[in-house]
Amino acid sequence: MNKVLFMNFSPNKNGNTYRIGEELLKNQSHDTMQMVDYKIYQYGQVYEDDQLEEVFANIRMADTLVIGAPVYWYTVGGMLKTFIDRLYMLPEAEYLKGKKLYLFAQGSAPDENTVKSIEFLANRLCYFMEMELKGVVVDRSDGRKILQSIVVE
Ligand SMILES: Cc1cc2nc3c(=O)[nH]c(=O)nc-3n(C[C@H](O)[C@H](O)[C@H](O)COP(=O)(O)O)c2cc1C
Repeated sequence: MNKVLFMNFSPNKNGNTYRIGEELLKNQSHDTMQMVDYKIYQYGQVYEDDQLEEVFANIRMADTLVIGAPVYWYTVGGMLKTFIDRLYMLPEAEYLKGKKLYLFAQGSAPDENTVKSIEFLANRLCYFMEMELKGVVVDRSDGRKILQSIVVE
């Protein structure tokens, strides 16, 4: 069975990112992680209450990851960027290998360079983590294009 995990990387638990992710997955059994509930410190910061391992306990169980983030300052928001930074040299990152990834980001009016840079980031992430990139869409906060373009299998 294809186990789907939606990771909402917005600080707003009921915001646009969450709404779009749940709409995308409305006919699909899935688990949702509100990433704002987890302490994931910056790359290089070492604190005992860091929860990245806990996050990976959930990731390990999934076959497909649906990652959603708001656009902040022309790229993905810092919460997602910090998560990606932390994958560097992380032993648990090997659990990402072979998983399918759908990534969407939405902002109030993402420009062409924002779209290109997030698409590039998703591509490079999948290349280095040996994940299968199934879809990446960046759109306005109504999420119309995201909902039309991504079909999570
Ligand atoms: C700090 C900050 C920076 C933002 N920068 C951008 C931006 O560069 N481009 C854009 O289109 N929207 C930008 N936005 C708007 C958000 O991406 C937009 O409101 C989004 O829908 C928020 O998603 P959420 O409801 O899931 O939190 C920014 C918002 C914040 C708070």
